[in-house]
Amino acid sequence: MNKLKWWQKTNVYQVYPKSFLDTTGSGTGDIKGITAKLDYLKTLGVGAIWLTPVYPSPMVDNGYDIADFTGIDPSYGTMADMERLIAEGRKRDIRMVMDLVYNHSSDKHPWFIDSASSRESEHSDWYIWRDAKPDGSAPTNWRSIFGGSAWTWCEGRQQYYLHTFAEAQPDLNWENPAVRQALYDAANFWLDKGVGGFRIDAIVYIKKPAVFADGKPDSDDGMVNIHSMIANTPGILDYLHEFKEKVFKGHDIFTVAEANGVAPEDLDKWVGEKGAFDMLFEFSHVNLEFPDGELWSHATGYTPKVITGLKQALTASQQATAKNGWYPVFFENHDQPRCTAHYFPADADKKLAAKAIATVLMTMRGTPFIYEGQELGLDNVAWNNINDYNDISSKGQYFLALEEGRSPAEAMELVHRYSRDNARTPMQWTKEKNAGFSTGKPWLPVHEDYARQCVEGEAQEADSVLSYYRQLAALRQTGEAAGVLQQGTYMELLRENPAILAFKRHFGCREVYTLVNFTGREQAYVLPELKEARLLMESIPGSRKGMLRPYEAVLYIKETGEGL
Ligand code: GLC
Repeated sequence: MNKLKWWQKTNVYQVYPKSFLDTTGSGTGDIKGITAKLDYLKTLGVGAIWLTPVYPSPMVDNGYDIADFTGIDPSYGTMADMERLIAEGRKRDIRMVMDLVYNHSSDKHPWFIDSASSRESEHSDWYIWRDAKPDGSAPTNWRSIFGGSAWTWCEGRQQYYLHTFAEAQPDLNWENPAVRQALYDAANFWLDKGVGGFRIDAIVYIKKPAVFADGKPDSDDGMVNIHSMIANTPGILDYLHEFKEKVFKGHDIFTVAEANGVAPEDLDKWVGEKGAFDMLFEFSHVNLEFPDGELWSHATGYTPKVITGLKQALTASQQATAKNGWYPVFFENHDQPRCTAHYFPADADKKLAAKAIATVLMTMRGTPFIYEGQELGLDNVAWNNINDYNDISSKGQYFLALEEGRSPAEAMELVHRYSRDNARTPMQWTKEKNAGFSTGKPWLPVHEDYARQCVEGEAQEADSVLSYYRQLAALRQTGEAAGVLQQGTYMELLRENPAILAFKRHFGCREVYTLVNFTGREQAYVLPELKEARLLMESIPGSRKGMLRPYEAVLYIKETGEGL
């Protein structure tokens, strides 16, 4: 096997800067706060930090609406702060990974302001403009991902512009070579600053179909989710390969693209030597409650089928990346609710649930992505009123659910379960006021349970989720299991078992076995090959072979005697 690259051996940590650490008392996190916590992140085996956007932004979608692709938002600090973060990171072997949000910009970006000013402007065709239908209505019945029409009328041009997401996030016109070049230049600007990679946002939407036509409505609002109309339009790969050629190629960095809807069997066209990126975030294992698109009101909620769905999705992704590309293992990010609520029944022991997911995350084949707070086992929040929420998507989905006849209480339940704010509450550092996140008023309320789950407390407790993550990180990077965990093959075990997720990793003369019980009942299993295996780690002291207690996770190691 080829020698692994640095980013295949490390753990990546995703920082949501607004909620990480506020060093000024403003109530929002900042870049200096990230620099202050690099040593903490080192204890989790972190070699790269994915920074969700820190560019100048009106913050309609918390930074995913960018007004300047090569600047730093003053609320986060200055370019000098950013340069210092990159330098301090490098001293510790931690590289910064920037989020490239290139499907759209903010409507306050100078390009859009100019484009909207007249059809003759310099940036006239930098965005996607269309005339109204003869009756004056929007060009198509596409619903934006955050709810409402994907078209907004512009008085200045007497035309509609397209936005896959919010009205304040107009889609850029990738057909225009000048647009593409400007975006590549911005990415190269960050390479020159010394960043270690890119996470590429919403990339499946950049190529639009040649003809814009109405789709079959999928909800009572008469609209159709834009995703089903424009995602992965043929021809998109040409752009992605050009992107690689003009930006990524030849640099010792990694790229991971957010690619919702790329089927696992298509992964090889997107990743690996011949693909445009190193890794893809695909969402089959986190969208298990959304069988028909991403309408919250159509979600199934938790059912035991989540377990089999998860097993199938993970194995499919592992198989798809076995020979080509590399898998970014993740269960949380800033768009997902907390995983402790997601894959387990409501009455599950949350600490064990968090450890169960940690075990899978850190022992699968691929690069583990830990989302801020996941290492503490943080849980969802449930605020009373939709106005207590900040997330633009939660509001859109709430009102759509009402439109579909749900009562306000039912719609709020959906918000509690699926809101992206669940994962965006401030990081919990200490038992002090505001969890040590800020001396000011936090932009989003701190989780009320913060004194029980914070870095300060969990670092002292041997059986905390944080200690468990640290042990797993050490196991993955040093010691007898490291080689297997980093580069071993993956083989699913107990495939037909509806309660246990199990797999074997193999490299050289060693095997590591992962076994996790996703249910609240004891589960017996038969795996004769475990006979000569030794216990490597357990989430509950006193584990026994052949039996898993509720939500228990165990790792075994075995010498096979057959080296490579
Ligand atoms: C991606 C981001 C999400 C954002 C959206 C629009 O899905 O992860 O947070 O709202 O793109 O940029």
